[in-house]
Amino acid sequence: MRVAVIGTGYVGLVTGVVLAELGNDVICVDNDPRKIEMLKKGIPPIYEPGIEEMLKRTLEDGYFHVSDNIGDAVEKSEVVFIAVGTPPGPDGTPDLSAVRAVAKEIGKALRKYTVIVNKSTVPVGSGDVVENILKEQGAPEELFDVVSNPEFLREGSAIYDTLNPDRIVIGAKRREAAVKLVELYAPLEKPMILTDLNSAELIKYASNAFLASKISFINAMSRVCEACGANVADVAKGMGMDKRIGDQFLQSGLGWGGSCFPKDVQGLIKSSEGLGYDFQMLKAVEEINETQTTHFVDRIEKRIGGLKGKLVGMLGLAFKPNTDDIRDAKSLVIIEEVLKRGASVQAYDPVAADNVKKVFPDITYCDGPYEVADRADVLILVTEWNEFKNMDLERMACSMNEKILFDGRRLYGKAKAEKAGFEYHTIGS
Ligand code: UDX
Repeated sequence: MRVAVIGTGYVGLVTGVVLAELGNDVICVDNDPRKIEMLKKGIPPIYEPGIEEMLKRTLEDGYFHVSDNIGDAVEKSEVVFIAVGTPPGPDGTPDLSAVRAVAKEIGKALRKYTVIVNKSTVPVGSGDVVENILKEQGAPEELFDVVSNPEFLREGSAIYDTLNPDRIVIGAKRREAAVKLVELYAPLEKPMILTDLNSAELIKYASNAFLASKISFINAMSRVCEACGANVADVAKGMGMDKRIGDQFLQSGLGWGGSCFPKDVQGLIKSSEGLGYDFQMLKAVEEINETQTTHFVDRIEKRIGGLKGKLVGMLGLAFKPNTDDIRDAKSLVIIEEVLKRGASVQAYDPVAADNVKKVFPDITYCDGPYEVADRADVLILVTEWNEFKNMDLERMACSMNEKILFDGRRLYGKAKAEKAGFEYHTIGS
């Protein structure tokens, strides 16, 4: 099938590359000349395991093409994906200006029947917004259908997730348009749910908000566990063995961050508000997530007798392992808090340090994990990178001023850390 994907961020690029890998003729479009140049050379502008090999292969085999011209890509395609960013605006409502701008360009270029697919996470009702823009640009109704096909990929395993989705959600007004996407995804041999536009748009928000709620629930339990001396990992294990609950997304830690959960939880709160419903449960989910991090910093401050003049070592900066993404990363909150309370910071992350440098240019960035411990008064594990799992903890403890470890992701466990000479603190036990 001939496919265009507008926007080469995480969602757009991964979708484009995977569809090319499946033998479709794909044109990926972006308005950033730097990204276009990189992609033409087979260099992905994002960090994502496995994407570079797939990009190079599909480029060489002639399935993957790059362009900066939306009109040209639309003319050559049967299906056009809109996969541009929808960042939260000042009040948390998703900003649809990029989606609107792309829809305008598509509307101008429509000459034959084309299926326009919203892959960006957009509030309920956005399918109609796109449809209206296309009509305003003079595109006759019979020349297009707008379809919602939300993406559920996780950063760090985006290629795998796109090739192995639990389900494929397709929302459309007319069956013929949905069938086009059913054909496109048929090679994946995965369950597909066909529904209306609004329900498809809501499935995405509901799924992410529910997963974020699951994490906030176990993080709230971690506070109860800390207060009574129980162990949150055992509580989660016991809960997760009930098949109705399931064991995933019950890992207690510093809370959720990233490009999706924060903006989608906020987005659903705002959409609900607009529809006349006050989604109080999600407001609590957000609040638990915020206080989870500040409570952790409070505990550190209390233990080391104030942060003023202290040196804090931080292991990991990305919002989760295997990504350089720092959007809503807990590291940013922790850095801001400890600096505000008078400490200085030395930090290391295998890939995300350059991004954090743009936000905090004045903290010290180390070349490796052992440097982070050097002369530090406290060591904080923020992101559970594989690289940190089997580190020589004894060597780290030896180079510290005070051998105190605060493990924000429950990575090491008391026995292992204490054996290495650390005084060990973690979340929920
Ligand atoms: C998420 C959804 O999983 C994905 O389906 C959606 O399309 C985009 O949002 P992503 O943000 O890439 O994906 O990462 P994910 O692995 O889901 O983790 C999100 C956050 O939750 C991270 O900050 C992670 O550290 C945290 N998390 C996750 C926990 O704290 N505990 C858990 O048990 C799981």
